[in-house]
Amino acid sequence: MSFSKAMKFNKFIYALVAVAMMALSAGVQAAGGGGLHDSVGNDVADTASLQRGVRNYVNYCMGCHSMQYVRYNSVGEDLGLTDEQLINNLMFSAERTTDLMTIAMPPESAEQWFGQTPPDLSLIARSLGADYLYNFLRGFYLDESSPTGVNNLLLPNASMPHVLWELQGTQRAIFDEVEYAPGFTRVEFVGFEQVTPGKLTPEEYDMFVRDLVNFLDYAGAPEQLERTYLGIWVILFLLVFLLLSYLLKNEIWKDVK
Ligand code: HEC
Repeated sequence: MSFSKAMKFNKFIYALVAVAMMALSAGVQAAGGGGLHDSVGNDVADTASLQRGVRNYVNYCMGCHSMQYVRYNSVGEDLGLTDEQLINNLMFSAERTTDLMTIAMPPESAEQWFGQTPPDLSLIARSLGADYLYNFLRGFYLDESSPTGVNNLLLPNASMPHVLWELQGTQRAIFDEVEYAPGFTRVEFVGFEQVTPGKLTPEEYDMFVRDLVNFLDYAGAPEQLERTYLGIWVILFLLVFLLLSYLLKNEIWKDVK
């Protein structure tokens, strides 16, 4: 390697290290964000978590939100549930296991009741991201000026009530004046303070929400499970193919020196 090439290579390595360090520090900040930017860390390959997630979803969300692109039987197939388990545990309003996960509430009434139509959640994890959903469902706080009695840190003036308040309990958001540059201050969220306890501890509530978000993440792209497995097989195939081509090349060229 010539000197100038070596210099270029060194610069390249420095750049790589710098990018890696930036990514790392962003990750650390996200982890300590105090409820606004936490990362959910869900795993769509965790079937037990998905099973808990779909149960949480039908019990707490399906009163208002449809999933019009998702069928019960495909959820059953992907999550290892029998038709009987589907019918007994998940299908409260549907008749056939081939039905879509729609709801009976007409959008016009929903708009009248809530001021906003609750969005269909089939693709919500794709449009808003799993981390957002995780923080959104942990971001409700008491607010007397709101008609629902709560507000949300991630969706100010949200018209969705805090449907999980019995599990989480109630919390207050603490805002404080923070000096972001010499002489300039602004009001920022600094943390939550529990007002009344819920049925779940804060850790259990986070787990509950993580399972739920895991299910929403899976539902947004059910093929992602298969895609990962397929990817592994493709790589294995390519490795075997590489070996074969190498042996073949040696065979063909062995007499040519
Ligand atoms: C009582 C009815 C109701 C229930 C039950 C309900 N929601 Fe909602 N949800 C709403 C309404 C209304 C909105 C629209 C809020 C807005 O735009 O202000 C909404 C909005 C949302 C949004 C969009 C947030 C955004 O930033 O745009 C998500 C995500 C969501 N709900 C998830 C859930 C989940 C998950 C559950 C179950 C734990 C649930 N909802 C249960 C009524 C409901």
